[in-house]
Amino acid sequence: MPIQFDPIQQCFHLRNQTMSYIIGIEKEAYLTHRYWGEKLPTYHGSNALQMVDRGFATNPFPEERTFSLNALPLETSTQGNGDHRVANYQIRNSKNHTVTNFLYDSYQIKKGKEAIPGLPSLRATTDDAETLEIVLKDTIQQLEMRLIYTLFENYPMITRRVVYTNNGSQTVALENAGSMLLDLSDCEFDFLTLDGSHTNEANLNRQKIRPGIQKIESTRGTSSPQHQPFLALVEPTTSEFQGSVYAFHFVYSGNFIAQVELEQYGTTRVQMGIHPDHFEWQLAPNTHFYTPEVVLNYSNAGFNGLSQTFHQVYQQHLIAPTWQKEARPILLNTWEGNYFDLSEEKLIAQAKKAASLGIELFVLDDGWFGKRNHDDSSLGDWFVNQEKLPHGIEGLAKEVHRLGMKFGLWFEPEMVSKQSDLFKAHPDWALQVPNYPLTEGRRQLVLDLSQPAVQDYLIAVLGDHLATGQIDYIKWDMNRHLTEVGNLFFNTPQQKEISHRYVLGLYRILETLTTQYPHCLFENCSSGGGRFDPGMMYYMPQTWTSDNSDALCRSVIQYGYSYLYPPIMMGAHVSSAPNHQVGRLTPLETRGWMAMSGNFGYELDFETLSPEELAEVQQQIAFYQKHRQLFQFGQFYRLQAPDAYFASAWLFTNEEEAIAIYFNGLSRPAMPTKYLKMRYLDPAATYLDLATNEAFSGAELNQAGVLIPRVKRDFHTQVFHWKKQ
Ligand code: DGJ
Repeated sequence: MPIQFDPIQQCFHLRNQTMSYIIGIEKEAYLTHRYWGEKLPTYHGSNALQMVDRGFATNPFPEERTFSLNALPLETSTQGNGDHRVANYQIRNSKNHTVTNFLYDSYQIKKGKEAIPGLPSLRATTDDAETLEIVLKDTIQQLEMRLIYTLFENYPMITRRVVYTNNGSQTVALENAGSMLLDLSDCEFDFLTLDGSHTNEANLNRQKIRPGIQKIESTRGTSSPQHQPFLALVEPTTSEFQGSVYAFHFVYSGNFIAQVELEQYGTTRVQMGIHPDHFEWQLAPNTHFYTPEVVLNYSNAGFNGLSQTFHQVYQQHLIAPTWQKEARPILLNTWEGNYFDLSEEKLIAQAKKAASLGIELFVLDDGWFGKRNHDDSSLGDWFVNQEKLPHGIEGLAKEVHRLGMKFGLWFEPEMVSKQSDLFKAHPDWALQVPNYPLTEGRRQLVLDLSQPAVQDYLIAVLGDHLATGQIDYIKWDMNRHLTEVGNLFFNTPQQKEISHRYVLGLYRILETLTTQYPHCLFENCSSGGGRFDPGMMYYMPQTWTSDNSDALCRSVIQYGYSYLYPPIMMGAHVSSAPNHQVGRLTPLETRGWMAMSGNFGYELDFETLSPEELAEVQQQIAFYQKHRQLFQFGQFYRLQAPDAYFASAWLFTNEEEAIAIYFNGLSRPAMPTKYLKMRYLDPAATYLDLATNEAFSGAELNQAGVLIPRVKRDFHTQVFHWKKQ
């Protein structure tokens, strides 16, 4: 049994082959965090709790001055009765009081893992996982808090979430409903996050934690490009290759908060949940509130170890089963090659060219509907522009299919343009607060997905398109953040529920469409990686990583995202040079390797390429097709983080072959001698270099490495390709 209760020690021990997580019960009332890290064969409480009479401490048992909630390492905070660190929940009653007294009540251990009503979560069977539910009760107000832990059998990973229940007779307001909190009895950590902006997502930031609170958050309505809903606590000596990391990733696509608090006695409190700003939930008698779940991932093998677990678990337990082993097609997206300037004739010519080069999926991006010739109109009018496409979407799709490719189509379903038939017909469907102007972003408004009528409408509109049987792929875009979060639909107390109800509405739409059309490949997009989070990945197995397609910038962005997501989940396209976002000229070869390091595609007008370039594109496509298993389903390891000259390196490997890619970045004088060590090849195997025909042991390539020859050129790429013998 991976999860056991020890009645002598009064603790729960969650243990698998690699990891232990231990929760104590103190005084039959309070849950303490006792241990998380490498597997412990047994636990007898060697790390006893520190019990001393502290200044300013308050005591639930007055005669026991050494017992204070403020100094215990807890598994959930208390509220208003002695734990003065930042709490992870708050419940207001009809008298406006927020004090509660949740005490341990009971527990249950179950095989498997239950889905969360209305929310995405990791998937597991009774063979993969075991779940512990611990019930805490406030008997004064008849409130219940159920802490739910699932331990994965084969990974150093657990998930945590909370169910808040009102068993009383009065409605209470959940003002904060955190998903997870724990106090680590240590303070020597760095705080690691992935931050950025539109076109500059997922930059790694690492800094030493200091006394007080450090946090990342989003109150933009989506998880945001500004901060990935992720944080890690990292031991100071941890690197890509060794050391301990405690990582937390939120399976949610809306407002969030992720914070650590280094408190007075050297404990580090970590918590994650829906952001309490703009949130409140009316918890009526006999109802539950389900929080989204947090993934907790422990690595004692550095960041690469951490990423291996994330990659495997997300590929096998997060995305829909249909896509877990399904190879992804090489696509051509029309956006950067055409923008809004579309015509059937032009598109068919481009499709023919694409097919002749080996492209497998032709994606028609923005501009095909309503009067959409610019970004200021027509969102919501999801009917074809007959002037541009006289034979409709079906006509074009049939032609693309006839050419032997799949057909994909762009939508931005959550939005409405003021200039649209939809807005004229349903002005009350946009998010709005009475008397205040509607703030536009990219000249568009946000549809209020909290309203069931809006959800039903979008399910019907997209469902009608999918029902034609001509659409194999949908790119689901979302290009602004939420403002005037309110509506004319819900009553006054429920207005603060709308941000969360928006996300629940989005999930309902996605659940319905992806269940009805499981073989349509959905690509998640929010101006690139604006909502790249595990919640969206549950429904859509790949994401357009960034609107920045420059190969050099992508080496930083894809490097950062690879901490969490495998390459198959990250859309990466070869685009034009000079690049449209930064104006940089990079070799087609480098653009190719960067795009092959993600979910491979193109985004340019092939007509603008020379015959030599077209021949190179054809070779890239043929190469990727031949080695698709390696790129899409092999293991991916980071070997070198982008340095001051933007040189970086990574490795793909599987049972048959390995490819290491070194991106030189900027050429420099006095280039240091560089040996790239592979570190993760099978040391006992022999690898044949396919360029030179030389054979080396995996051990030699791992430890001694290969020389990076000097090349006097910016943005050059050096690739090593071995066949495993
Ligand atoms: C933002 C996306 O990220 C782009 O790829 C493109 O689809 C545009 N929107 C279209 O408006």
